[in-house]
Amino acid sequence: MKSIYVLSVFLCVAVTAPAQDRVLPAPERTGGKPFLETVDARRSERAYVKAEMPAQTIANLLWVADGFNRSDRRTVPTAMNKQEMELYVVFDDGAYFYDAAHNSLQLIAKGNFKEALGQPNITGNAALTIVMVADVSKSSIEMARISTGYISQNIYLFAASEGLGTVARGSFKNAALAEALQLNSHQTITLVQPVGYLQ
Ligand SMILES: Cc1cc2nc3c(=O)[nH]c(=O)nc-3n(C[C@H](O)[C@H](O)[C@H](O)COP(=O)(O)O)c2cc1C
Repeated sequence: MKSIYVLSVFLCVAVTAPAQDRVLPAPERTGGKPFLETVDARRSERAYVKAEMPAQTIANLLWVADGFNRSDRRTVPTAMNKQEMELYVVFDDGAYFYDAAHNSLQLIAKGNFKEALGQPNITGNAALTIVMVADVSKSSIEMARISTGYISQNIYLFAASEGLGTVARGSFKNAALAEALQLNSHQTITLVQPVGYLQ
């Protein structure tokens, strides 16, 4: 019992402390709304109320978006299993890389990068914004854009299942966001997608 308490305190500190790597709890791989009800509820929502997202919800969301559901394969398909997509996550305190294999968020840079996300009326109150990045040294940009669609739809379906709001956004400040995320010349941002709590 004592060790469970110590672990919970550790996880709590790990996910609420300001700008440092975040260890996520293991994603829950069961639950959620029935599938057809989830599809029925899928829609774009742009008005959120400011609220912090619990670490478990973040872990589940990122796992659904592009985590590993088998030892070496993911929740979304990629052409020839190239797995060319990477997820970055922008919170109020900084930008992080989602390390799907280790189920963690690695701090890229502290700071407020919301300006680079564009559309502040949408992103301002989002709990987080997922930035989809293609590594075009692994696959073509055409294939990566298709993979992006799968990731985006998984995020939509997770949001619908959890009663959260989300919207795919093709409009963002590409150069500023690439700089904020410290991307290299092989990396191209394909889409950004805020997730937030509904009003
Ligand atoms: C590739 C793509 C890019 C989009 N870009 C934006 C955007 O920049 N800003 C925005 O408010 N909505 C954006 N949307 C959301 C669409 O406007 C929305 O999906 C459409 O109006 C249909 O509404 P629904 O998702 O509720 O069915 C985008 C959707 C897609 C698929």
